[in-house]
Amino acid sequence: MVEIADKMAKVVSLCKRRGFVYPSAEIYGGTGSVWDFGPLGVELKQNLKKLWWRDMVQRRSDIVGLDTAIITRPEVLRASGHEKGFVDPLVECKVCHERFRADHYHLVESHFAECHKGKEIKDNITPARAFNLMFKTFMGPVDSDDNIAYLRPETAQGIFLNFKNVLESSRQKIPFGIAQIGKSFRNEITPGNFIFRTREFEQAELEYFVRPSDAEHYYKQWIEARFRWYCMLGIKKENLRLRPHTTEELAHYAIAATDVEYKFPFGWSELEGIANRQDYDLQTHENHSGRDLKYFDEELGKKFWPYVIEPAGGVDRMVLAFIVDAYEEMEDNEVVLRFDPRLAPIKVAVFPLVKKDKLPDVAKQLYDELKKDFMVAYDEAGSVGRRYRRQDEIGTPWCITVDFDSLKDNCVTIRDRDSRKQERIKIAKVKEYLESRLEKL
Ligand code: GAP
Repeated sequence: MVEIADKMAKVVSLCKRRGFVYPSAEIYGGTGSVWDFGPLGVELKQNLKKLWWRDMVQRRSDIVGLDTAIITRPEVLRASGHEKGFVDPLVECKVCHERFRADHYHLVESHFAECHKGKEIKDNITPARAFNLMFKTFMGPVDSDDNIAYLRPETAQGIFLNFKNVLESSRQKIPFGIAQIGKSFRNEITPGNFIFRTREFEQAELEYFVRPSDAEHYYKQWIEARFRWYCMLGIKKENLRLRPHTTEELAHYAIAATDVEYKFPFGWSELEGIANRQDYDLQTHENHSGRDLKYFDEELGKKFWPYVIEPAGGVDRMVLAFIVDAYEEMEDNEVVLRFDPRLAPIKVAVFPLVKKDKLPDVAKQLYDELKKDFMVAYDEAGSVGRRYRRQDEIGTPWCITVDFDSLKDNCVTIRDRDSRKQERIKIAKVKEYLESRLEKL
């Protein structure tokens, strides 16, 4: 157990120290369970989102993208069932008014053991009541019930609202999908585990519309596809598993759901969920808005609400899983993040062997050239060994050293993070070398 907690603590510390993730508003003591992504974190997250988009939209002729609004009128979330159903049961400690999820009773027990030793729990805790997880705000200058708006709790609703628009403008035929990456907000009662469960987070969601009779087929297909996607980007297979939901666990709109779980240091936990949402959303939005949201199937010659298969992942959770999975401590306590090079925040670092004899000039010239195509670091401080270690710790796959011979033969040494092998290549060929290494993946 100590070792596990230790790994998480080390990851959190590395993230802060090297600029992956910072506590939000840290100088004011932090905003509870809200995090900011630093210079390296933003690169990693963007690479991840780009690869998701590439595989879910760019390379698919049956899926298109969307970017819908975060601010949502209450009618939408009333129709979707979130106003009533997106609740957690909550109990309150009568002594200090701290609140807990009633279904996380172990937290209540440890709270009383730590803070109110000797007090009887059942006498000092309120009955459970429903607590809605949505963030509420007001539109316009008047704070009144007529002006309530919500920050969306999932990106999915914006997709359902635009189902007809997309259908009419993109002329897709089922089966087809609409994908979106964007922020969602949930006032979680027990957030935690760093960026695993937060109150502001990013989701990458696909709503895949199919004939009801094909739903089971595509449900299974998407479960397999999403599992493979994580493996393809380097997550170790033994750290991933699929877990079907029990009937009691299912969200109000789903008839089946399976989670892709990752073995985090704090235990197996959900990375992404694949759900069969049936025709729940299109049907309810048609009923509430009065607008026809059915699909006309020319082949079958009839109109119906398509069923929806939804792979829904959390980008921040993915970032955490990819960092944890890549984290390796070597015998000399040196840390290496073995990211797939496509995910690595910095692709290559350029070093002059020493800070004299024109070596920095040549190195900077190469750095400027490579910057046009890649995220590149330049480092001339300390020994080359130390510079390698600094790059290993942030997962940079390749380091290039300009040495005295470079001035004569126009070659540099390129060192591979994982094999630690060094190759000598022509400066003029470096770009091509990096491109071919990245393309092969
Ligand atoms: N549209 C379906 C939906 O939102 P969900 O299982 O509630 O389903 C999908 O969320 C994914 O979003 C989860 O698998 C998780 O990765 C991510 N997610 C949900 N709540 C989160 C939170 N509080 N913090 C970080 N990620 C979260």
